[in-house]
Amino acid sequence: EKSKETELSRLFFTYQGIPYPVTMCTAETFQALDTFEARSDDIVLASYPKCGSNWLLHIVSELIIAVSKKKHEHPEFPVLECGDLEKYQRMKKFPSPRILATHLHYDKLPKSIFKNNAKILVLFRNPKDTAVSFFHFHNDVPDIPSYSSWDEFFRQFMEGQVSWGSYFDFAMNWNKHIDDANVKFILYEDLKVNLASGVKQIAEFFDFSLTGEQIETISAQSTFQAMRARSQETHGAVGPFLFRKGEIGDWRNLFSETQNQEMDEKFKECLVGTCLGAKLKYDSYC
Ligand code: A3P
Repeated sequence: EKSKETELSRLFFTYQGIPYPVTMCTAETFQALDTFEARSDDIVLASYPKCGSNWLLHIVSELIIAVSKKKHEHPEFPVLECGDLEKYQRMKKFPSPRILATHLHYDKLPKSIFKNNAKILVLFRNPKDTAVSFFHFHNDVPDIPSYSSWDEFFRQFMEGQVSWGSYFDFAMNWNKHIDDANVKFILYEDLKVNLASGVKQIAEFFDFSLTGEQIETISAQSTFQAMRARSQETHGAVGPFLFRKGEIGDWRNLFSETQNQEMDEKFKECLVGTCLGAKLKYDSYC
């Protein structure tokens, strides 16, 4: 038991109280973010891991292509807080609008994002499906550490001992800013239920002027089936694991009744009665 704990603790390094994967983040990159210069037209896409960040990234990239009429390449791995230090130097040369994807708490974003009033789209997904997706990602992808069981992962998830820390801390932190003028909330489940309406709202938030036909085309290219079919081409070997199942309610296949109640309690304690709590439509999806 003890050695397993030691093994898991080696997966993370803790920065300002939050565990991050040692393979993806370093203290130096976090320090470099303190002086990162955001632009007013940067597009910030924030989400807790496994809430559909690659989906959102794809939709926003397609919207940019449609309005700029040229191919928008991601010059490199788009998560702001991951990568080598020189990345921030290279990013100075990226054409606008730059997409800054992130799993950081609002409080931990570079201050220049607020100073320059960049728009922030924050994507949420119900915590039960998020946890299940996170577990499968760890256990399916060959190069990242796996957990011995779902029960073990669930315990770590509830304690916030997973990459990027606790879902609930992330949510409580964003809750304070969810109605800020430069912030727009979007729900994974709403995108699933009506993708075209979600795509339209995203376009409007960023002032992208598109025809109904363009919105329809982008929506058709952004369904789970369409994205999964192209996943190896777009994301390499990890593609099929990133586009695993794409459903609402897969948590029912793994959660025990006790785990279900424990998460309901946690949700109640952290989010019931908050603005974000209402927006998550917990009762409909959990
Ligand atoms: P599942 O593991 O439940 O299938 P992220 O990109 O933040 O890592 O999130 C990955 C999750 O988003 C995966 O959930 C993935 O299938 C889902 N996803 C990705 N693209 C999607 C799409 N077009 N429609 C629905 N879900 C999608």
